[in-house]
Parts: sequence; structure tokens; C-alpha cells
Amino acid sequence: MQTVKVKLTQQDYDIHIASGLLGQVGKSLVELGFKSKGIIITNPVVKNLYLKKCKESLEEEGFSADFIEVPDGEEYKSLEWAGKLYNELASLKAERMTPILALGGGVIGDLAGFVAATYMRGVPLFQIPTTLLAQVDSSIGGKTAVNHGQLKNNVGTFYQPKRVLADVSVLKTLPVSQVGNGIAEIIKYGVIRDKELFQLIESNLTALTSLDEEFTEEVISRCTAIKAEIVEKDEKDLGLRNILNYGHTTGHAIETVSEFGVSHGQGVAIGMVAAAMISQRMGVLAAAELNKIKSILVKAGLPINIGGLDIAKILQAMKYDKKNAGGKVKFVLLKTIGEVFISDNVNVSMVEQVLKELYEETQDLRHNRR
Ligand SMILES: NC(=O)c1ccc[n+]([C@@H]2O[C@H](COP(=O)([O-])OP(=O)(O)OC[C@H]3O[C@@H](n4cnc5c(N)ncnc54)[C@H](O)[C@@H]3O)[C@@H](O)[C@H]2O)c1
Ligand SMILES: [Zn+2]
Repeated sequence: MQTVKVKLTQQDYDIHIASGLLGQVGKSLVELGFKSKGIIITNPVVKNLYLKKCKESLEEEGFSADFIEVPDGEEYKSLEWAGKLYNELASLKAERMTPILALGGGVIGDLAGFVAATYMRGVPLFQIPTTLLAQVDSSIGGKTAVNHGQLKNNVGTFYQPKRVLADVSVLKTLPVSQVGNGIAEIIKYGVIRDKELFQLIESNLTALTSLDEEFTEEVISRCTAIKAEIVEKDEKDLGLRNILNYGHTTGHAIETVSEFGVSHGQGVAIGMVAAAMISQRMGVLAAAELNKIKSILVKAGLPINIGGLDIAKILQAMKYDKKNAGGKVKFVLLKTIGEVFISDNVNVSMVEQVLKELYEETQDLRHNRR
């Protein structure tokens, strides 16, 4: 088992990463001084696969383990569903010290986290992430949120869990596209902060894409350590945490313009290439480094071009409309693999130029629409 510590001003907590951790959830609760009752929040997909194991591990330690089910999907990460969960918690007689266990991907983690943060002004939270993206990203750092109106994650709070339990054995049931979402974020950590990690993935890519347990455990622990370090320095997202958005401005815009036919990981992959190309065009990144990034993404099965998507719409979704065509925008750029910086000196015309170059490459993403 790997353990990564997150040291924050109010509280420290551990991230545990290992195969078989679902069977240890009850022991973790006991270790942290909880007794008698835990409430699991999950969705139908994860429930069918993993609830039994999680529930049994609680019962073995003498806990009663009720569970609440939220339908599967981003649209249920809402205030309406938070409200339903408050009602369910009340009817299950959840109290101030009753831990909530978020068993699922980032959607469940964000929603259950938000509910744990606000129910009775905060009840203990355990994150049990079951997607690769949730294990390396969303379960760490304490951001919880729901979507409201047209905006994503716009109602939320910072609320740290008591512990994160990442069981790598649950990843084997993930659909390929979900694995890709996690791999894009993993490559991002190497690119922004850890050249050695990048090289490690480069030379063992099949071990990662095939989710070899030992290698995946090692990679997840390195990624969580990077996120922990960044969160420790900027808990409330006032500066350094911005670098975690490397590739994301363009990536989100591409996701939106494709009407989510392009997945988050695919969007981030293209966005990372766009940011590296801008860095190279601005003379800060060597061409060989850009090529390494393109190559690892292609080998990982991720796209590196926007074939078929409307560039004007992408720029608009990035909020770079015609009005600031001659203007400058903020971008996370690359000095070298492992080192990023934030620039507010990127010409919108440069972004447009790079998107045009990416447009002309071969793969056509329109075929990926769901
Ligand atoms: N809080 C943060 O810091 C943060 C960071 C990044 C993303 N997010 C949020 O995370 C969400 C995306 O998370 P996600 O990518 O995990 O998506 P998700 O939670 O929707 O999970 C993806 C799919 O995989 C299924 N699934 C989960 N675990 C499985 C397993 N082990 N086997 C088979 N299927 C499984 C889910 O039911 C779902 O259909 C978004 O809402 C995003 O805003 C939050
Ligand atoms: Zn992301």
C-alpha cells in the first residue's frame, strides 16, 4: 500500500492507494475513531459492482451501513439532488459524527462531498474514488460542488475528507473512455510538475493503459503526491492551483463545442498540445519536447487535433471573441516537460493560429460523437 499525506492548516489526512482497499474501509473508520454507523452514497453502476464489498467491510467492524443511491450522470450533481440527500440522511438519522462515504467517480465525490460539507454544518467525509480520474484528481484537494443553472461547479465549498481510499482493483471494470480520462490527467501531472514521472509513463505506457495493478498504484501515488503538494501550497485556489488547469481552457471549449462528443480526457489531451504549441511558438519550449508530448498522447490513444470542430466556436467558448482578437489572454504555458508557468501575454491570434494548425491534422473527431 502507498500512503500520501496531505498537510493542511486545519487538518492533515492520508490518501491510501492499494488493491483491495474496499475490504478495509471499516478498519479505516475504526482507526480514525468512528463507530457504529456509516452512510454510503453511490450510484447504480458502482452499487452493482462494489457496494457489497464496501458494506461488508463496515459490517465486519460492527458498523451499520446504510446506502443512498443517486442516478448515474453529471446532471444529478445538482442542488435538487443535494436536497434529496439531506432528506435521506435525516430519515436515516445521520448525526454530526456519522461519516459519509462517497463511493463512485468524480460526480458522486463532488455531490456527496458537498452534502457532507453542508449537512449539519459538516459531517465527516471519506472519499472512495472508483474512476481513474477521481483517484488521481477529483477526490483530492477538497473541492466539492454541484452544478447550477447553466454553470458547472458554481455552487460549492472547500471541504477536506478524513481519508481517501483508492482501491486500484476497481479500475478494471471501467470503460476504456473513462480510463482515457484518467490517463490524460496523469500525463498532465508529468508535464506540469514531474519530468521523471513523464519518462516513467513513456517507458511503461502499456502497463498503464492495461491498468497493471502495481504500476497503476505507483503512478496514482505519484500523481496524488503532486496534487497534494500543490493543494498544500494553495488550498483555496488563489494562485498555484491554476497550473492544474494546464490544457483545460482549450480542452473545456472543445468538449463544449463537440457537445460532449469529445470526452474530458480527449479535450485535455488536445488542450495540452495546443498549450505546448503556443509555448514552442513563443520560443520558450523546445520543439523536441512538444513532439514528446504529442507522441505519448497518441500512444495512449488520445487525440491531438480538433479535426472537424469549428475554430470560431472554440474561441468563443474560450471567451476569446472577436472583440479581443488583437488582445492578450492568460494561459498556462510550458518551459520544459515538468515545468509550467502562467503567462498573461498570449495573443488571441496565436491561439487561433495554433487551433488552425491542429485543425489540419488528420483524425476527425466528429466520428466520436455519442
Ligand atoms: N473536485 C474536484 O477537484 C474535481 C476535479 C476534476 C473533476 N471533477 C468532477 O468530476 C466529475 C467527473 O468525474 P468522473 O470522470 O469520475 O466521472 P463519473 O463520476 O461520471 O464516472 C464516470 C462513469 O464511470 C462509472 N463508474 C465509476 N466507477 C466505476 C467502476 N469502477 N467501474 C465501472 N464504471 C464505473 C460511473 O457510474 C460513470 O458512469 C465531474 O463532475 C467533474 O466536474 C471534480
Ligand atoms: Zn481535468
